[in-house]
Amino acid sequence: MAFERINAVGTSFFGRGSMELLPEELKKRGFKRGLIVTDSFLYENGTGDKVGTFLLKAGVEYAIYYLVEPNPTTIIVNDCLEAARALEVDLLVAVGGGSAIDTAKAVSIVMANGGKVEDYEGINRSHKPGIPVVAVNTTAGTGSEVTAFYIVTDPVRQSKMCMVDPNSMVTIAVNDVELMMTMPKGLTASTGMDAMTHAIEAAVSKRATPFTDKDALWAMDVIKAYLPQAVSDGSNEKAREMMAYAEYSAGMAFSNAGLGMVHAMAHSLGGLMNLPHGICNAVLLPFVMEFNGSMPEAAERYKKAAIGLRLPGAASMTGEQAVKETSACIRRLSREVGIPQSLRDLNVSPGNFEALAETAMRDSCMEDNPIKPSLQQVIEVYGKAYG
Ligand SMILES: [Fe+2]
Repeated sequence: MAFERINAVGTSFFGRGSMELLPEELKKRGFKRGLIVTDSFLYENGTGDKVGTFLLKAGVEYAIYYLVEPNPTTIIVNDCLEAARALEVDLLVAVGGGSAIDTAKAVSIVMANGGKVEDYEGINRSHKPGIPVVAVNTTAGTGSEVTAFYIVTDPVRQSKMCMVDPNSMVTIAVNDVELMMTMPKGLTASTGMDAMTHAIEAAVSKRATPFTDKDALWAMDVIKAYLPQAVSDGSNEKAREMMAYAEYSAGMAFSNAGLGMVHAMAHSLGGLMNLPHGICNAVLLPFVMEFNGSMPEAAERYKKAAIGLRLPGAASMTGEQAVKETSACIRRLSREVGIPQSLRDLNVSPGNFEALAETAMRDSCMEDNPIKPSLQQVIEVYGKAYG
């Protein structure tokens, strides 16, 4: 590869209690008025105002928008945008997982660039950086606090728009484990498998590089080791902390290497059925690995995943063996953390596969998949995942 560009977030905090570092960082940047962007659950349990106290310490007054929902739509983004404009804020503070952070990123881009959120679907569509966003991450995770990606659902088309835009990257990312300790089992499992999908897709992506591989392979190892512990015992602080580092690393990897067919198919599925993103990925992942791996040039790439997952004999596996062993490993992990194993379990109707595949073919994540599938092949992979 002749050139490699790496985008990274300016300041990121890790570790229990690291929220304490936020006020000083905000003071350095001179913000005055913030809008906390969160969901009703985190508002009602007091997390929104808890973050607000750190803003007040920095002399930043704040209001709270708490109507973010999972798989946020353009309606939610427009609603939040209206509030941010009316309040003339100079800072957005997302509190939550990917849904809150993506909503804030979308609002930030439209506030700075004008137009409507739909104008930014695709790759590098904005002209200038969005207004500053602080991402206070409560899941582990979508990696949205570290990536150039954000996703907004178009309720008219019932599909997800994937935006890839370094102008949307947040200014400060906070991964304070204290805010992740109460994450329920199901959310821990689904967001953890989302992070594993990021690591695997980044490693086999056409744009993978040595820099992105180091993050992707390390993340695979850590997620495999710690996700079951974080799911079985949410109070295991070490497991929570390692998952926070791993999901950030996986995010760093995919933000710079791209994703692939799993995410393209999962966006389409989640957009139509309003299913959790991590569950869609986890169900589809082994089937896409087997599909990609059936092509020799792509199979070779899964040797890296075998090494990242620390499979016995990984160093001497053929591409074919690596595909077989890595997909089996993902199935074991997914089952262990309680994820459904097929689209049938998610009540997806096979009658939708053709429309789902058509949408997936247009998703920008498909660009970086190691091989370019035909529409028929994508339909077949949905079929295999149905069981
Ligand atoms: Fe994802």
